[in-house]
Amino acid sequence: MPARWAAADMAGQHGRTALVTGANSGIGFHQVLELARHGACVLLASRDPGRGQAARDAIMAELPAASVELVQLDLADLDSVARLAGRLLDRAGGLDLLINNAGLMAVPRRQVTAQGFELQFGTNYLGHFALTGRLLPALLRRPGSRVVTVSSLVHRLGSIRLDDLQSEHGYGPWRAYSQSKLANALFTEELDRRLRAAGAGPLSIGAHPGYSRTGLLSSGPRLGGGGGVSALVFRLGTRFAGQSAARGALPVLRAATDPQAHGGDYYGPGGPGSRAPPARSATPGKPMTSSSPAASGRPPRHSPA
Ligand SMILES: NC(=O)c1ccc[n+]([C@@H]2O[C@H](COP(=O)([O-])OP(=O)(O)OC[C@H]3O[C@@H](n4cnc5c(N)ncnc54)[C@H](OP(=O)(O)O)[C@@H]3O)[C@@H](O)[C@H]2O)c1
Repeated sequence: MPARWAAADMAGQHGRTALVTGANSGIGFHQVLELARHGACVLLASRDPGRGQAARDAIMAELPAASVELVQLDLADLDSVARLAGRLLDRAGGLDLLINNAGLMAVPRRQVTAQGFELQFGTNYLGHFALTGRLLPALLRRPGSRVVTVSSLVHRLGSIRLDDLQSEHGYGPWRAYSQSKLANALFTEELDRRLRAAGAGPLSIGAHPGYSRTGLLSSGPRLGGGGGVSALVFRLGTRFAGQSAARGALPVLRAATDPQAHGGDYYGPGGPGSRAPPARSATPGKPMTSSSPAASGRPPRHSPA
């Protein structure tokens, strides 16, 4: 496997079914495009049917023979998560690949999900936690299946505030984002640990795209106006220094398809690498993941030990 990896290096994905969340834009869109180009049957998840349809139309215009199905998923509403998971579990066959990609960043003022959780923690982490738990039976059915969860370099700045996970007693847009991305990284490790302990097949792998020009920089701050100086600096930095969304998708695609990947790996633009502390320690995911089932509504059934 080359150090510099391109989508053309991806092995054929024929016969595999993949679900990508937040797939109507940014790096998620390019994940669907490349997986479909390589033969996968891809479920393009979008919270907004119009934006989802536009993304699917764009992919079908480029790849008329592709198998891409639009599915509706709002990760900020656990009922929506349950509905989609229920539909997918009812289908014959299983799921080979779940990419927990959707996210929003730096929402200026504290907002909450449909069930009352802080919006960034609820969307980026809890929604994906619940989705993964509910879809585990479908993943367990398929040999070689994977869960790839998208984190961020920003997770290094994060801390898990176990006494105030929902930022009820103090909210900072970036603090909430970095906490949610650290939660994604810890979840990846803890899921991997539990899957291995149970002798289960699916791999749990982390990825981050690096610094990529996508809508992420404007969608969060737009929710409530402004976003402050840090959002402006981030936007300018990305405009001049960021890579394309297509390039940002590559570490995620590599994590999803690299035959040499191991559970617990963390892929970035330079390939697989290690996570920064505190995500690297052996047990930090435990207290948080053990409180997540209650927070996310229902405990994931069939969750390995
Ligand atoms: N861009 C970067 O430099 C960078 C760096 C590190 C990590 N990341 C991570 O990469 C992932 C993808 O982000 P991106 O950069 O591609 O940004 P993006 O273009 O804004 O894409 C984010 C996607 O998530 C979706 N989303 C937001 N809230 C959602 C919800 N409640 N339910 C379902 N979907 C929701 C968005 O849908 P709408 O179109 O409806 O808003 C959009 O499709 C995120 O997890 C982000 O944290 C990005």
